[in-house]
Amino acid sequence: PRHFAIVPAAGSGTRMGADKPKQYLPLLGRPLIHHALATLCAAPDIDRVYVVLSVGDAEWMRHDWSALGPKLVPLFCGGPSRADSVLAGLRAISGEAAQSDWVLVHDAARPCLAPWHIDKLVRELAHDEVGGLLAVPVADTLKQADGHRRVAATVPRDRLWQAQTPQMFRYVMLRRALESAHGVTDEASAIEAAGLHPRLIEGDATNLKVTFPLDLHLAEWILQNRER
Ligand code: CTP
Ligand code: MG
Repeated sequence: PRHFAIVPAAGSGTRMGADKPKQYLPLLGRPLIHHALATLCAAPDIDRVYVVLSVGDAEWMRHDWSALGPKLVPLFCGGPSRADSVLAGLRAISGEAAQSDWVLVHDAARPCLAPWHIDKLVRELAHDEVGGLLAVPVADTLKQADGHRRVAATVPRDRLWQAQTPQMFRYVMLRRALESAHGVTDEASAIEAAGLHPRLIEGDATNLKVTFPLDLHLAEWILQNRER
């Protein structure tokens, strides 16, 4: 089977509060999204990289993506939510993808994706019936609040994981799951709603999602200090 990457990048970055969507903010001299796209395009296991942009995204054209090579394909079909954007991407490539092909969905907002994250995910899920996702064990003690912001319970964290991306599922299974799921924030939730159990592949904290301004500084530090 082939492996397609889908990179949802049609968000507006409201929590970042910048003057443009966070995927285009400069990070070490390149647009933030360029980092993850470069890593995906360079991965020998990945056959094509589809980036899902907002309809009429003008910022995309203002940058030069040619260094990423021929695997990169922009799709101007983003939707109102992340799940809508991913589903629109899946629909757009229906002529391309076969039943058993794998799709790796990766947030544009995770610029510190490393080659070994992709290698581990693809290797460990190669023969999996369902698919799975990168995730890290929760480190903090977690409190569940009541309606008055008092602690109702301390949630045991020994079996809790933080979901990351890429999330890797078979094309047809993922598309069916997303067509029928509503209000999900990641692909795994859609698969779970279909009654299946995605596998957790342990990643690491460097694959952070850039959500708030502090995250930009952390991402810069991680990229600058990474062994190559
Ligand atoms: N995304 C998307 N289409 C949307 C919303 C989000 O493709 N309608 C993408 C974002 O571009 C991002 C990823 O999904 O790469 C994760 O979403 P998030 O971190 O929430 O980004 P934003 O929605 O842009 O940020 P915010 O929620 O703060 O507005
Ligand atoms: Mg969002």
